Amino acid sequence: MGAKIRNYRPGEERVLYDICLLTGDSGADASGLYRDPLLLGEVYVGPYLRFAPSHAWVGVDARGVAGYVLGVPDTLAFEAECERSWWPALRARYPLSRYPADSADGRIVRLIHNPSPAEPDVVERYPAHLHIDLLPRLQGQGDGRRLLTTLLAGLAAAGAPGVHLGVSTANQRAVGFYRRMGFTEVRTYADSLVMARQL
Ligand SMILES: CC(C)(COP(=O)(O)OP(=O)(O)OC[C@H]1O[C@@H](n2cnc3c(N)ncnc32)[C@H](O)[C@@H]1OP(=O)(O)O)[C@@H](O)C(=O)NCCC(=O)NCCS
Repeated sequence: MGAKIRNYRPGEERVLYDICLLTGDSGADASGLYRDPLLLGEVYVGPYLRFAPSHAWVGVDARGVAGYVLGVPDTLAFEAECERSWWPALRARYPLSRYPADSADGRIVRLIHNPSPAEPDVVERYPAHLHIDLLPRLQGQGDGRRLLTTLLAGLAAAGAPGVHLGVSTANQRAVGFYRRMGFTEVRTYADSLVMARQL
């Protein structure tokens, strides 16, 4: 039997931040890479829970929450919202001088101070975007498909005509999963891809 899928509930922020870290090294455990265990979640989880809680879904098994999918129907509106009321507090908490520039933490802090916006012609066709992460104990049993399908239905119902995502080329498992789920590559960079599909 698969995990139970339901909306995220307030109070579950920390467990989702932990899942983000435990899958944050191209799908593998990144907790050895970061000195600050909350940093990845502050970028890739927190603002989605704050600004789009109805598009935040979790997978729950007998041991608790073990995976999530997060998305927003309108990436440009989300970026503007983050600029207004998510990044300022984080920038104050994590000054650029906090970590060495070439460290994993330092790279995320740079992103907080200098987020890279989605490309205009990608967001025009595929205005929604998403993140999905499952702990190893949930992987490979159809829960990723069920979580993603649930999210996509919600994004389509919110009026988004298409959705995109970023994935590291080192994470070939995820790339294969996304292809299987109907995504194709729309941008190729040195070590990452943007994949997208219509809704
Ligand atoms: C990537 C991830 C979300 C996939 O979820 P999952 O639960 O393992 O995948 P599922 O078992 O639901 O697979 C769904 C379908 O994709 C297929 N699939 C999965 N991985 C595949 C791959 N590498 N190549 C081809 N097909 C693949 C499955 O066979 C299945 O096909 P079917 O439903 O038609 O039979 C999950 O493994 C994960 O969270 N990994 C760690 C974190 C991560 O890498 N997140 C993505 C960051 S960009």
